[in-house]
Amino acid sequence: MRDEEMKALNAFQDNAGEEKIDVSHKLKIGIIGTGWIAGDHMTSYLHMPDAEVVAGADLIPGKAEAFFERFGMKGVRTYPDHKSMLEAEELDAVSICTYNAAHAQCAIDALNKGVNVLLEKPMCVTLEEAVAIRKAEKASGKVLSIGFQPRFDANMKKIKEICESGVLGKIYYIQTGGGRRRGIPTPFGTSFIEKETGGIGALGDIGCYSLDMVLNAIGYPKPLTVTGYRSDFFGKNPKTYPFHPEYAEKFGVDDFAAAFIRLEGGIILDFRIAWAMNLDTPGDTIIMGTEGSLRIPSTECWNGTVGGPMTLYHEVAGSQVETVIPVIEDNGPSLFDRKIRTFMDACKNGTKAPVPTDQILYNQAILDGIAKSAELGREIEITIPE
Ligand SMILES: NC(=O)c1ccc[n+]([C@@H]2O[C@H](COP(=O)([O-])OP(=O)(O)OC[C@H]3O[C@@H](n4cnc5c(N)ncnc54)[C@H](O)[C@@H]3O)[C@@H](O)[C@H]2O)c1
Repeated sequence: MRDEEMKALNAFQDNAGEEKIDVSHKLKIGIIGTGWIAGDHMTSYLHMPDAEVVAGADLIPGKAEAFFERFGMKGVRTYPDHKSMLEAEELDAVSICTYNAAHAQCAIDALNKGVNVLLEKPMCVTLEEAVAIRKAEKASGKVLSIGFQPRFDANMKKIKEICESGVLGKIYYIQTGGGRRRGIPTPFGTSFIEKETGGIGALGDIGCYSLDMVLNAIGYPKPLTVTGYRSDFFGKNPKTYPFHPEYAEKFGVDDFAAAFIRLEGGIILDFRIAWAMNLDTPGDTIIMGTEGSLRIPSTECWNGTVGGPMTLYHEVAGSQVETVIPVIEDNGPSLFDRKIRTFMDACKNGTKAPVPTDQILYNQAILDGIAKSAELGREIEITIPE
C-alpha cells in the first residue's frame, strides 16, 4: 500500500469511532465505465481493506485495461460492456460510472442480477428511468445508493442540523443553485454535452447537487408543480471551445436552467444553475423561515461544500441580528472515501442505502419536470407513479 493510501486509511479508521471494519468479509467489486470519475471510485476502494476490485467494463476497447494498469492492478478481469461482466462474474457490488444516459440500464441489469449498486449522480436522465430503477431495486432487495458525496461534508450536515433545529421556524421559501462563469465540462471529450450520452446538461450534472443540498436539509418534501427553463447559448457557440470549435455542433443539452417549483408543505423552491454565464454567481442559497433565514454562499457546485461562512438572520429579544456560522474544517477522509465506505457498510450490514432512492426519486422528478416544462413552455404538475 502506498504511503498516501495508508494515511487516508488511518484517517478513516481514526474517524470511524467504534465501528471497526470487518476485513474477514471482503466485497467483490466491479466497475462499470472506466472514465474520469471511475478513478475516484478506484482510489477510494484501494483505501478500503475489505474491498477487492475484481473486474471492470468499458465500451471503448482497451480503456478498462489501461485504467487498471494505471492503478498498478494486476489480474483484474475486463469486459467490453457491463452485461458481459455481470454475466461472467459473481460480484457483491458495482460502481456505475458511465455517462448519465447509460445509468438506468446498467443499474437495472445489475440489480436484476442481485448485485448491490453505487450509482453515480445524477440518478439518471428521466423520471421514467428513475421509476424503473426503483422498481428493480425493490424487486432485488439489494442496496442502491446514489453518488452524492457532498452529503458527507461536515458543512452540508450543518445545514441540515440548522434546518432541523427549528431555529428557522416554518420554512416557506428556498432559493438555490450556483455554477460557473465558464465551465462546460469537456476535459475528456464530449460525453457530458451530447444528448445521447449526457442526456441533460448543467441541470443534471450540477443542478442535482444544489437540489440535494436543500432538499436533504428539509427532509425531501414531494415536488408538486414546476415551471422550468433551459438554454444552450454558450454550449452552442464555437467560441466557447477555442481548441475544439466542433464541440458546438455536438452540444445537445443545456448550459443553464432555472425553475420555480412548488413543494409539499407550502414551500417554494427557486432554482438556477449554470455551466456558463456572464455573471459570477446566479445567487447564494437562501432558506427563509418564519423565525430565521440562512444564507449559504454559492459555489461552482464542484467541491462538495459551502462557498464560505453561512449567516443566520434572526431576532434576539426584539433586535434583528446575524449569527455567522464559520466554515467547519473537515479534515477526515475524503468525501469519496466516505461515499464508498458508507455504501460498503450498507451492503455488508444489509442496512438502508446512505443516499437512498426514495429521496433521489424526487430530485430526479424535479430535473425531469424542469426539462419537460421547458419544452412545453408552461408550468406542469409532477406526477410520480407509486
Ligand atoms: N460524483 C462526482 O463528483 C462526479 C464527478 C464527475 C462525474 N460524475 C458522474 O459520473 C458519471 C461518469 O462521468 P465521467 O466523467 O467519468 O464520464 P466518462 O465519459 O469519462 O466515462 C464514462 C465511461 O462509461 C463507459 N460506458 C458507457 N456505457 C457503458 C456500458 N454499458 N458498459 C461499460 N462502460 C460503459 C464509456 O465508454 C466511458 O468510458 C456521470 O454520470 C457524471 O455525472 C460524478
